[in-house]
Amino acid sequence: FVYEKNFRTLTAEAGLCVVIPCSFTTGFGFTPKHIVWYKCEAYSRCDYDHEIIFHSNKNNIRVQYGFEGRVSLLEPDIRQNNCSIIINDLKESDSGLYRIRVNGERKWREDGFASIQKTTVSVEGLSQKPRVKLPTLTEGQQATLTCVAPGLCSGSVPEITWTWRGAGGTESYITGSSTSFRTKTLTAFTQRHISTLTFNSSAEHHNTNVTCKIRFTGEKTTEEASTLKVNYVKEVNITGGTNVKEGETLNLTCSVESFPPSLIMWSKLGSDITLHNDTGSATLSIINATTEHSGQYVCTAKHMNNILQENIDITVMFISHV
Ligand SMILES: *[C@@H]1O[C@H](CO)[C@@H](O)[C@H](O)[C@H]1NC(C)=O
Ligand SMILES: *[C@@H]1O[C@H](CO)[C@@H](O)[C@H](O)[C@H]1NC(C)=O
Ligand SMILES: *[C@@H]1O[C@H](CO)[C@@H](O)[C@H](O)[C@H]1NC(C)=O
Ligand SMILES: *[C@@H]1O[C@H](CO)[C@@H](O)[C@H](O)[C@H]1NC(C)=O
Ligand SMILES: *[C@@H]1O[C@H](CO)[C@@H](O)[C@H](O)[C@H]1NC(C)=O
Ligand SMILES: *[C@@H]1O[C@H](CO)[C@@H](O)[C@H](O)[C@H]1NC(C)=O
Ligand SMILES: *[C@@H]1O[C@H](CO)[C@@H](O)[C@H](O)[C@H]1NC(C)=O
Repeated sequence: FVYEKNFRTLTAEAGLCVVIPCSFTTGFGFTPKHIVWYKCEAYSRCDYDHEIIFHSNKNNIRVQYGFEGRVSLLEPDIRQNNCSIIINDLKESDSGLYRIRVNGERKWREDGFASIQKTTVSVEGLSQKPRVKLPTLTEGQQATLTCVAPGLCSGSVPEITWTWRGAGGTESYITGSSTSFRTKTLTAFTQRHISTLTFNSSAEHHNTNVTCKIRFTGEKTTEEASTLKVNYVKEVNITGGTNVKEGETLNLTCSVESFPPSLIMWSKLGSDITLHNDTGSATLSIINATTEHSGQYVCTAKHMNNILQENIDITVMFISHV
C-alpha cells in the first residue's frame, strides 16, 4: 500500500537533516490511526519495538535512544496519507534502513500494514559550505557581511562565528565588529540560520581573509573563507629629484596606494596636456632638461569618482658654458 517509488537510497550530511518522503493508500474500510517508523540494520526485519524511532502516538511509546525529539511527521494529519518524516541533527550512526508501518482499524478491529521495502539512508560527513555574501567595501564605511548556514533544517540552532586573519597571519576578530544572529522560519519544518558581521572597513582589511564557521550539533563544523576587497586610497606620494642642471635627466615618480589602482597623470600647471599616464604609479622623465622645463607640475590621481592632486616645483638650473 505504500508507493514503491518512495523507497530509494537517500544521502544526507551529518549535522543537517533528511526528509524521507513517504505516502500510502489504504484499502476500503481502513482508517489509519498511527504512523510508526523503524530503523534497523540490513539483517533485521525492521519491525521490532526496540527499533522504533518515531511513533505518532507519543503517549506510550519509547523510541530508540538518541532519536527522541529529532523526528517529526511533515504532515501531522494522518488522514492525508502522507507519512513523510524529517530527521534533524543527523549523525553518521543514523545511517541504515528505515521502514514504515501504519496502524489503524478495519471493521472496528485493529489492523496495520508495513512497507515491504525499506528506505536506505546514508549519512556522510558534512561537506556543504556556508554561503558568504560580501558587499562592496569602502574604507571608513560600515560594512555588513552575511553568512548563511547550509541546510534548511528545523533541528538544533547552529553556532556561527566569524574570525579574521589580518596581515600578521594570526587568527583574531575584527576590532570594533559586531555580529548578529537570526533564524528565518520558512515553513513549519524549514529554517534558515543567518549571521551578520558589521564593522567599519579600512585599508588594513584589504586582501585579508574573514572566515565564517558554523558548528552544528555533534561538533560538525563547516567553514568558508572570503578575501575582503576594500576600496581605499592613500595620499599622493611624489619621489625623485626636483633640481637638475640643464642637459640632465629628471625622473619624478608619482604613486598612490589604492584599491582598485588609480590612474596617475602628469601635466604641467596651466596645461591640459597629459605628459604621461599610468596606473598605480607614473614616472615623469624629462630627458636633456632645459630651463623651459622649469615650473610647477601636477600629479593627478583618479580613484573611482575621486580626484587627488599634488603639485611640485621643478627647477632646471642654467649652466653657462664658458
Ligand atoms: C507530505 O507533506 C509535506 C508537508 O506538507 C509535503 O511537502 C509533501 O509534498 C507531502 N507529500 C506527499 C507525497 O503528498
Ligand atoms: C569609520 O572609521 C573612520 C576612521 O577611523 C571614521 O572617520 C568614520 O566615522 C567611521 N565610520 C563609521 C560609520 O563608524
Ligand atoms: C585567503 O583565502 C584564500 C582562499 O579563499 C587562500 O587562497 C589565501 O591563501 C588566504 N590568504 C591568507 C592571507 O590567509
Ligand atoms: C613614498 O614612496 C616611496 C617609494 O616608493 C616610499 O619609500 C615611501 O614610504 C612613500 N611614502 C609614503 C608616505 O607613502
Ligand atoms: C630615469 O628613468 C629612466 C627609465 O625610466 C632610467 O633609464 C634613468 O636612468 C633614470 N634617470 C635617473 C637620473 O634616475
Ligand atoms: C593615457 O596615455 C595613453 C597613451 O599612452 C592615451 O592613449 C590615453 O588617452 C591616456 N589617458 C588619459 C586618461 O589621459
Ligand atoms: C640636449 O639639448 C641641446 C640643446 O637643445 C642639444 O644641443 C643637445 O644635442 C641635446 N642632447 C641630447 C642628448 O639630446
